[in-house]
Amino acid sequence: MPELAYQSGFGNQFATEAVPGALPQGRNSPQRAPLGLVAELISGSAFTAPRASNQRTWVYRRQPSVVTGAYAPYAQPHWVTGAAAGAVVPPDPLRWHPIAIPDAPLDFVDGLRTIVVNGDPDAQTGMAAHLALMNRSMDGRALVNADSEMLVIPQQGTLRFVTELGVLDARPGEVVLLPRGIAFSVMVGGPSRAYVCENHGAPFRLPELGPIGSNGLANPRDFLAPVAGYEARQDAPYEIIRRDGGALWRTTQPRTPFDVVAWHGNLTPVKYDTAHFMVIGSISFDHPDPSIFTVLTSPTDTPGTANCDFVIFPPRWMVGEDTFRPPWYHRNVMSEFMGLVHGQYDAKPEGFKPGGMSLHNGMVPHGPDAEAFDKASNAALAPHKLDHTLAFMLESRWRFKPTAFAMGCGALDARYADCWTALQDNFRP
Ligand code: FE2
Repeated sequence: MPELAYQSGFGNQFATEAVPGALPQGRNSPQRAPLGLVAELISGSAFTAPRASNQRTWVYRRQPSVVTGAYAPYAQPHWVTGAAAGAVVPPDPLRWHPIAIPDAPLDFVDGLRTIVVNGDPDAQTGMAAHLALMNRSMDGRALVNADSEMLVIPQQGTLRFVTELGVLDARPGEVVLLPRGIAFSVMVGGPSRAYVCENHGAPFRLPELGPIGSNGLANPRDFLAPVAGYEARQDAPYEIIRRDGGALWRTTQPRTPFDVVAWHGNLTPVKYDTAHFMVIGSISFDHPDPSIFTVLTSPTDTPGTANCDFVIFPPRWMVGEDTFRPPWYHRNVMSEFMGLVHGQYDAKPEGFKPGGMSLHNGMVPHGPDAEAFDKASNAALAPHKLDHTLAFMLESRWRFKPTAFAMGCGALDARYADCWTALQDNFRP
């Protein structure tokens, strides 16, 4: 693979070639593609999708991806999807401590541990949230997820994503978006942990900005796509793992799937450094809804009601007069799954650990713990920088069901609800 190089933009029509002259000019599928290559079209949207949401990329490769073997079932019982795979549990707020990375050899595929599920991948609704617990690279192995695009949120360790369209590196603080159906391998440099959102619904896009205007939140130019690059070695067999219809399948093929020499289009993996997120907030009093922190949204047919919003709580200035600054107590028709990449989350200064997770389903009450409430109610309201922190939320219109693994793995915080028991009734009429 070539050295890392990126091109900037979200949804741009990129054009890139690893060998000069590999990209045909003027025609997408000439009778003979340049340099003996074969043209293949990857469509990420229906052909007739509106132009603003139409996604497709032409790749020019050594062999079309149809050249492969027959598929057989592949056993990985910890990767499940669809609401039917979840457990029915009481409507309690749930929280998990970080789950240790096992010593047993695990790559991205075998190390996925599904925590919550909703929707139905066959119906293209909902999502699943997983942990990826890894200690080895996918050498000679690639994953094709035909059910979902995948948003990977590294929490420990720098990950290298070798994809059909090029190579991306991502460290904690960055996130990687991998389109549905594009082959990739994940390489690790040691024990690594990542959160993974598997989105069965509409592809993630940037949210509309409304009165915010043309700048703010995640700016398109801060998304980085890879440039074309191919694996020089062609004679080594590859194992292809395919997620398809909520099941896993495997096959072997005689050569690498990473043989794309040139491509052009707007369907591409991207990475994004959350440090570039332009945080918007109140400069008078109170605070806006957490939707102000939306990085990416997967919409549904109901306006403003997301299949999944990817929301971050990054370092930011806390200002505002006469304002209770942590998140308020609330109940939400939407369901909220959270993780913490590093640092402290302001509503739960102690109990919510980096690598941990929490779940507050639709209309399940939640809010700051007793310590956070007390501190925030008595704090001097000078401007304050909340620093060295990165929490995130995956918010969905569909209720999440935790998996049997999540409920039985030993990481469930059985005392989570205790964090609110010290709250006092201070009513003095
Ligand atoms: Fe919430």
